Amino acid sequence: MQQVIKVSHVSKVFSRGYFKKHHKLVLDDIDLEVSEGDRLVIVGESGMGKTTLARIMAALESPSQGKVLWFGENISSMNKGEKKLLRGKVQYVHQDPYSSLHPAKTIFRTVADPLKNAQKIKGKELRQKVKELMEKVGLTPAEYFFNKYPHHLSGGGRQRLAIARALTTDPRVIIADEPISMIDMSLRAAIIKLFKDLNDLYNIAVVLVLHDIGAAKYFTYEKGEVAIIYGGKIVEMGEGAKVFDNPLHPYTKVLISSSPIADPQIARNRVVEQLRSYEVPERTPQSKGCPFVHACNYYVERCMEQNPCLEAVEDNHWVACHLLVNKDVDI
Ligand SMILES: Nc1ncnc2c1ncn2[C@@H]1O[C@H](COP(=O)(O)OP(=O)(O)OP(=O)(O)O)[C@@H](O)[C@H]1O
Ligand SMILES: [Mg+2]
Repeated sequence: MQQVIKVSHVSKVFSRGYFKKHHKLVLDDIDLEVSEGDRLVIVGESGMGKTTLARIMAALESPSQGKVLWFGENISSMNKGEKKLLRGKVQYVHQDPYSSLHPAKTIFRTVADPLKNAQKIKGKELRQKVKELMEKVGLTPAEYFFNKYPHHLSGGGRQRLAIARALTTDPRVIIADEPISMIDMSLRAAIIKLFKDLNDLYNIAVVLVLHDIGAAKYFTYEKGEVAIIYGGKIVEMGEGAKVFDNPLHPYTKVLISSSPIADPQIARNRVVEQLRSYEVPERTPQSKGCPFVHACNYYVERCMEQNPCLEAVEDNHWVACHLLVNKDVDI
C-alpha cells in the first residue's frame, strides 16, 4: 500500500515574548504513518495539540523539529511547483463549516470553482461533475441546491458541502479537524458515516481529529487506528478495536470510562476513576518526565524523570508508559 503521509519525530514549539522568550512545547516527538485507504483518528481533550498536528500533516504549519513526508517525499525539500501538484491530494477540512465557506457563493459555485481549477472542465461536463460530487456527499437532489447559498444548509449540510469541495481535487487523504464538533448531535453519526463511505468506496485515507471518544470508536472499531494524545505526545496508539477493548494507558482508560453512556442504568453503576489533577501544565523543551505524571494515580519516581517512548505491547498496539512496558505496577 502506498504511503500517503509520514510524520517522523515531529515536535512543535511555539515561542512568545520579545526580550525574554518563552517556549511552549506543543507536540513532542510524534511518529505517525497514513497509507492509502487508511483510517486514523487523533483523540484527546482540548489543548493537547491535535489541531497543530493535523495542520502539520497538511503542511499548513511547519514542525520545529522532525519531518513530514507526502507520498514518500520530504515536503520541506519540495519546490513550490511540486508542492502545489501534491497539495490537492492532501485535503484539509476545517472545524467550522460556518466560516470556511464563502457566504456569497452559491452552492454550485462553491464546488464548481475549485473543480474548474483542478480539472479544467466547463459547461455540461462541469455541471455533471458538480452533481456527482454533491451526490457523493449526500447533498441530494443536487440540482435543488445549485442556486442556494451555504446559509440555507444545516451545520451537517455545510460540512457535507465542505467535504464535496475537498473532493474536487481527487484527494488521496482527507484530514478533518473536529468535523462534528459544531453540528447537531443528531447529524454527527451521519457525517462520520460519510467519512467511512468515502474511505470504503473510494479508498480515500481519512484522518479525523475528534474530542468525542464514542465517534472515534464508531469510526475505527472495524477498521483503522486511533492515536490518543496527551500534552502533545501520543500516549497510546493502535487498531481501534484493540485500544477500545483493551485500553492500557491510564489516560486512555479515564478518557474511555468517562465518555457519556446513554443507558442510565449502566451510567449509574459505572465507576469513573478520578485523576490527581485535571490541570494540564505547560511543557517546554526542557520539561522532564511523562506529560501525564501530575495527573496519574500510578506514577513512580521514574515517571517524573524520564519521558516514556511508545513501545509495542501486542501486534498493532503501542503505549508510552513506564509502568506498562516494564510491568512495575499493576494498573
Ligand atoms: N499559533 C500559536 N501560537 C501559540 N500557541 C499556540 C498556537 N496554536 C496553538 N497554540 C497552543 O498550542 C496548544 C495546542 O493547541 P491545539 O489547537 O493544537 O490543541 P487542540 O488539541 O486542537 O485543542 P482543541 O481541542 O481545543 O481544538 C494550546 O495550548 C494552544 O494554546
Ligand atoms: Mg483543535
